[in-house]
Amino acid sequence: MISSIKQTALHAALLITLGLSASAHAQAPTPADAAYKNPATPTAQRVDDLLARMTLEEKIGQMTQAERQAISPENAARNVFGSILSGGGSAPKPNTPQAWADMIRAYQDAARSTRLGIPILYGIDAVHGHQSVVGATIFPHLLGLGATRDAALMARIGQVTAQEMAATGIFWNFSPMIAVSEDIRWGRAYESFSEDTALVSELATAYAKGMMQPIAPGVPRVIPTAKHFIGDGGTAWKSAKTRIMNTTYLLDQGDTQGDSEALLARYLPPYKALFDAGVGSAMASFSSWNGNKVHGERALLTGVLKERLGFKGFLVSDWDAIQQLPGDFSTQIAAAINAGIDMAMVPNAGPDFARRLKSLVESGKMPQARIDDAVRRILTAKFTSGVFDQPYPVAAMMPAFGSAEHRAVAREAVAKTLTLLKNKAALPIDKNARIFVAGSHADNIGAQSGGWSLEWQGVSGNNKFPQGTSLLAGLKSVAGEAAQISFDAQGKFQGRADIGLIFLGESPYAEGIGDRYTDELALSSSELSLIESMRERADKVVLVLVAGRPIILDSALNKVDALVMAWLPGTEGAGVADVLFGDKPFTGRLPVGWPATEKRYQRADATLAQRCPSLQWAIGFGLDASGKTLGPTGCDAYKK
Ligand code: BGC
Ligand code: BGC
Repeated sequence: MISSIKQTALHAALLITLGLSASAHAQAPTPADAAYKNPATPTAQRVDDLLARMTLEEKIGQMTQAERQAISPENAARNVFGSILSGGGSAPKPNTPQAWADMIRAYQDAARSTRLGIPILYGIDAVHGHQSVVGATIFPHLLGLGATRDAALMARIGQVTAQEMAATGIFWNFSPMIAVSEDIRWGRAYESFSEDTALVSELATAYAKGMMQPIAPGVPRVIPTAKHFIGDGGTAWKSAKTRIMNTTYLLDQGDTQGDSEALLARYLPPYKALFDAGVGSAMASFSSWNGNKVHGERALLTGVLKERLGFKGFLVSDWDAIQQLPGDFSTQIAAAINAGIDMAMVPNAGPDFARRLKSLVESGKMPQARIDDAVRRILTAKFTSGVFDQPYPVAAMMPAFGSAEHRAVAREAVAKTLTLLKNKAALPIDKNARIFVAGSHADNIGAQSGGWSLEWQGVSGNNKFPQGTSLLAGLKSVAGEAAQISFDAQGKFQGRADIGLIFLGESPYAEGIGDRYTDELALSSSELSLIESMRERADKVVLVLVAGRPIILDSALNKVDALVMAWLPGTEGAGVADVLFGDKPFTGRLPVGWPATEKRYQRADATLAQRCPSLQWAIGFGLDASGKTLGPTGCDAYKK
């Protein structure tokens, strides 16, 4: 903990360098024995005591979240901001866990030196492990985890992620995404556990509980975020208007359409489950609800979320999403905060947001009570999580960061995600077999990790993942000394092999950048020729797909002897080899339906009668190596 001498010195230094004149800072410093500063005071009393001492400017500061690149620790403190985030890929240089810890410490030191000394809440998307940090344990993305149907495993993943976050001093995670994904053309389909509401609720709850579990005495608990409230994943085709990086979004940030109660019956249960489990934060969705942007919908954000579900936590807006509402910035702010947003994610517009919100209150356009309610929610989270009393990185957790123990959990998770879809006596592979390995995804940890891995849109290659294991390296280590493994990405081989093992899939993407037409979800002609050429060189051909969603196979299915869906495994590629070589069984079952052809593509919101004939395999499908189906599918239930 920072010493009070250092704190006072820092405060004085800040006052001198910044020449503070703002009203907040003209207020007297608070006494050391103020009730809110005492951890023994009950939370509600701490909140009341602190709130009563705050100026309007200090309250609005708590409601403001800026991006680390847009605001230095000193400026964040001068503006009394309550929160800082790292956007996708926004990392300190060098990107080491220690540099992250040092950065967080600097923000907290500055925040603690302000008049009231309220620590910031630092938020990040640790959506498959703490994957913005080099060296982190990266887990499979959530859709792959949906194939495991293993709630106990989700809890351990949540816990490992929280420990790696704590090492860097971050205690607020913008995860889990609990969209019930209806459309695999959506660029965020891989961030969702399933197209099935109940499966999303079950796995997300276990994962969030694991994340919130106490890490060690005196260490804050990580706050998970239920996102994106509500209807993301169910938007209508081509209803999106966003254009980023020269790409026009098709589904992401689009419009969810239909009878409100029917939509809520499908999308709301995971939120209820998470809030019942004690999840203290939620994020609003970029998308619209029957034509209106969710960020301005009081009926949803206050009516459904806070009143009907009784959500007592705080609601954060999504990245610059307030600015997508109609009108000028002040009008947008008034609409969003009045609708129920408690904290504004305004990455580059923090000071402007704060100024405008202040004048909205002063001119009577924003009730003081709404501000107090928002701040009360945010402060409650800071007190109950423990961040208020211990906002610093936890050095004792540093050895656990990216540790062998953590990687073992991820490797186990990878093995459990593998979903066997076809096997004509090709799997498991004998460790002594002659194996030709080919394909773009065989030796590329960036590709096997997908989007939201070091960068928002992901990366390619192996060199940014120290201690990570590519799928090829995993094969070699699991097969051991006896292995006769040759690799060529393009499949140029001499002679013959027993097994031709091909790893193909998607290049990384995130959000609407990954929205796709169905014909883009099929294998390309060069990929099909690679399969053909491997047929000529190997007795059995095994295709392993490394992708964020089902790939439409059509005729390719008949060209391979075995087909495995490996989803997006993350850094622990040996988990794939564990199963391919039979050290571990195939247990994965599809968390979403798998379309048979592009032409007959049907979304998951179609009725089973409409949808089943269009599917190659329904949700729940998966085989063991002997060819036995592992459980019932959605279509089995429908046919009964
Ligand atoms: C995404 C959120 C994410 C936020 C912060 C947004 O673009 O929609 O899921 O939490 O950025 O990175
Ligand atoms: C950020 C992401 C964010 C996205 C939204 C990116 O620049 O890094 O975190 O989700 O913008 O557009």
